[in-house]
Amino acid sequence: MSMAGTAVSTLRPRVSPLRYPGGKSALYPRLRKLIRDMGLAGCTYVEPYAGGVGAGLGLLATGQVERVVINDLDPAIYAFWATVQSDSGWLIEQIRKTELDVNEWRRQREIYQSADTSRRSELGFATFYLNRTNRSGVLNGGPIGGLDQSGNYKIDARFNREGLAERIRILSLYSDNIIPTSQDGIEIIEKYAKQDNTFIYADPPYFEKAGSLYLNAFSPDDHTALARVLNSYADRPWLLTYDNVPQVAKLYSDRRRRKFELNYSAHRVGKATEIAVLADLLPEVGEGWKVTSS
Ligand SMILES: C[S@@+](CC[C@H](N)C(=O)[O-])C[C@H]1O[C@@H](n2cnc3c(N)ncnc32)[C@H](O)[C@@H]1O
Repeated sequence: MSMAGTAVSTLRPRVSPLRYPGGKSALYPRLRKLIRDMGLAGCTYVEPYAGGVGAGLGLLATGQVERVVINDLDPAIYAFWATVQSDSGWLIEQIRKTELDVNEWRRQREIYQSADTSRRSELGFATFYLNRTNRSGVLNGGPIGGLDQSGNYKIDARFNREGLAERIRILSLYSDNIIPTSQDGIEIIEKYAKQDNTFIYADPPYFEKAGSLYLNAFSPDDHTALARVLNSYADRPWLLTYDNVPQVAKLYSDRRRRKFELNYSAHRVGKATEIAVLADLLPEVGEGWKVTSS
């Protein structure tokens, strides 16, 4: 049955503690339906370009999937997820007690910039702190309210200590089912695409403007290499999302492509039209795959 024009609930559990520019937590109801329709309930869900894993953690916390592989090449993002998985008590303590002011912001930024992976939990917390105190969550941006804190919103505007501590506590209940890794996304796709009972949702950096939002920008060659691998696994269950640019139609000319809209976008005002590419195995999702984000 086509889903064109069908209203889909935008209700979704908010479990990810990260704010992510262009985050895809709004895809949660769509992914849930796809996974159920394919008989993959209880599967291993893999995000090779994880970022905030907004949709994936919702699927885990509601029991739709059994485990979530969270892969991100950015060592700081990886450090955060590894800390959630293995050091949640310490993380909750930091969330409750760390000052929310520009002095502390500078200290956390130093830890983040030093990128010392041998102090993984500290790096993970600094990443989280900047994500929650910076404008739009952009890690190399400035603090909400500015360095002089003269803006309408202040540095603590997005740092609800108890709400965030609760999200970490909920995730700690699933620590055996969260697998954080830090490899190239293509290696992760190669590893998991062959496995049964596995669903891959790939949300790589965009063609446009990715450089300013993420630490690891993709080169044109990276986009081509990704397409080569995903197209070679067209008979496996995966979904890919991208910005709506002509290169996607070219790289995935043999696959079904469906437009959808996200309201929220860090680099464009208003609605951004994005594109979903479907592995051949996936059921039809219908043209006008409307998704509303916040
Ligand atoms: C578009 S974001 C993913 C957003 C995510 N879907 C969400 O909802 O929050 C892309 C992520 O890919 C990561 N990344 C960039 N290059 C990568 C690579 N070669 N392999 C794995 N991850 C990479 C970036 O650090 C960034 O966090």
